[in-house]
Amino acid sequence: MALKTSSADSRTRSSVSIFIVVGLCCFFYILGAWQKSGFGKGDSIAVEITKQTDCSILPNLNFETHHNGAGDIVDDTDSKAQVFEPCDARYTDYTPCQDQRRAMTFSRDNMMYRERHCPPEEENLHCLIPAPKGYVTPFPWPKSRDYVFYANVPYKSLTVEKAVQNWVQYEGNVFRFPGGGTQFPQGADAYINQLASVIPIANGTVRTALDTGCGVASWGAYLLKRNVLAMSFAPRDSHEAQVQFALERGVPAVIGVLGTIRLPYPSRAFDMAHCSRCLIPWSANDGMYMMEVDRVLRPGGYWVLSGPPINWKNNYKAWQRPMEELQEQQRKIEEVAKLLCWEKTSEKGEIAIWRKRINADSCPGRQDDSLTMCASTNADDVWYQKMEACVTPFPEVNNPEEVAGGELKTFPDRLNAVPPRIASGSVPGVSIESYREDNRLWMKHVNAYKKINKLIGTGRYRNVMDMNAGLGGFAAALESPKSWVMNVVPTIAKKNTLGVVYERGLIGIYHDWCEAFSTYPRTYDLIHANGLFSLYQNKCKLEDILLEMDRILRPEGAVMLRDEVDVLIKVKRIASGMRWNTKMVDHEDGPLVPEKILVAVKQYWTTSDNSTSSE
Ligand SMILES: *[C@@H]1O[C@H](CO)[C@@H](O)[C@H](O)[C@H]1NC(C)=O
Ligand SMILES: *[C@@H]1O[C@H](CO)[C@@H](O)[C@H](O)[C@H]1NC(C)=O
Repeated sequence: MALKTSSADSRTRSSVSIFIVVGLCCFFYILGAWQKSGFGKGDSIAVEITKQTDCSILPNLNFETHHNGAGDIVDDTDSKAQVFEPCDARYTDYTPCQDQRRAMTFSRDNMMYRERHCPPEEENLHCLIPAPKGYVTPFPWPKSRDYVFYANVPYKSLTVEKAVQNWVQYEGNVFRFPGGGTQFPQGADAYINQLASVIPIANGTVRTALDTGCGVASWGAYLLKRNVLAMSFAPRDSHEAQVQFALERGVPAVIGVLGTIRLPYPSRAFDMAHCSRCLIPWSANDGMYMMEVDRVLRPGGYWVLSGPPINWKNNYKAWQRPMEELQEQQRKIEEVAKLLCWEKTSEKGEIAIWRKRINADSCPGRQDDSLTMCASTNADDVWYQKMEACVTPFPEVNNPEEVAGGELKTFPDRLNAVPPRIASGSVPGVSIESYREDNRLWMKHVNAYKKINKLIGTGRYRNVMDMNAGLGGFAAALESPKSWVMNVVPTIAKKNTLGVVYERGLIGIYHDWCEAFSTYPRTYDLIHANGLFSLYQNKCKLEDILLEMDRILRPEGAVMLRDEVDVLIKVKRIASGMRWNTKMVDHEDGPLVPEKILVAVKQYWTTSDNSTSSE
């Protein structure tokens, strides 16, 4: 280890001068590139930049060229980087792990066919997913909440199927989202007002929410202005693309389903969970789905169920459903809620709200022999783990008033307060001091990023992903209503920190980057990854991870990779064949630091374009 570091140091030192030249030039290059691009433009921008920039004279001084001789850094056997071709146009909306044809080979029982079923490695595509012809950068927030370009999501079936429900309308070359939903005839705002009369949304107590079966995520879209971040999920449909609409609108969402596998979130994550006509059979499978919601709900968190079977007495005719069936469903739901010891706080019209107790002590009269506690000792070990009809135990408390797992400050105080999981020492290897240090470091890093890419923090990048989020320091430093960050904690990460991310009032998900992410192509504006490629170096092909990043990145979206220089050289080499403009930039502490930053911009190109925009 020591040997490796010192050799990296000497290599770095030998190239100081090159860094200065490349660095200076690239600073202006990058500045130019980002100032030129803007909202809703596209094609010809990159051509202009390539013509104007002086960097084109630099290839001989190029950092990687210089190092190609050092056999331990770059695999010399293949010195010409591979060029990746566009995939066929039929892959425009390809979601590898939720592919319709593969899905149909699985059972429909318990929605199993809509769960993640990833292609084996040898079936991975080694091509670039094309954008549809006429693709345009989405509108900036908040206009994107209400308008989506038809060219980006050319499916009209929703507008036809849901026409009477006021979800989405087609007008000229855009879809318009009037803020309605199946359950929101008066609009999402009025609906949220109803919830807010029971749930403390206004004073920052509720910050993170889960929308199960979200449709086009209007609920999440309208919660944003109340400072609530909702993670919405819905299965991939056979032809419509509801989650794609959500992300196109600039609202956090992933493809997902309550099926047979645990949800990819830690226990005690969400302050509120919500289902409005989400078609999840809550009363089925001995209440297993409600028990899974209970696992991810924070002690004291709320569960909202609106639509069938609530208020079945008045609605069974309108819903065209047998009265007895609905009555039995609600009875079952109430029974499971009682078993979970949720307190019914309100039922008004079609909206019912329950609250999870703050600890195990405050559950008088529950017959604990009637319930199965989950055997697994780690309620956060969920990746591809089978969901079971069992109850996740509360963390222990010392007195009846104590909130199990620790009380959270209201948002935004909780963003930088010490998260209870760290204060209690339940994240091995993370102390209060190292958490504070991590925050200081990310403030510094993000300030440096803003100097490299002036558009960071401006609203140009709305949907942001951090592929290896750690304690959420990057997202916390970037926190603003202009953007949101999907904090991914890799399943192979040494520290499971996603619970901490949620305790800070941020959202995220577990994922294994050897597989495709549960999202549509072109759904992120900015992708950040710290130490990701070092982490995955011997786990799967870096090329596959990069192609996946290219799939989920919007044309003209940006990438910021922070890693050891040797790893970044390999990455840069692969990326050079992927229609990305890349530049290596020094650490803000100077060229002697072996950690570098690789910045990249995905070129604008679409299907049936033979050429890329920089040629
Ligand atoms: C927020 O509002 C709720 C309901 O009105 C109240 O019970 C709670 O104490 C408030 N929390 C804070 C921190 O003000
Ligand atoms: C793309 O290339 C094919 C053959 O390589 C050619 O026939 C076609 O005209 C080209 N299309 C465009 C738009 O340049």
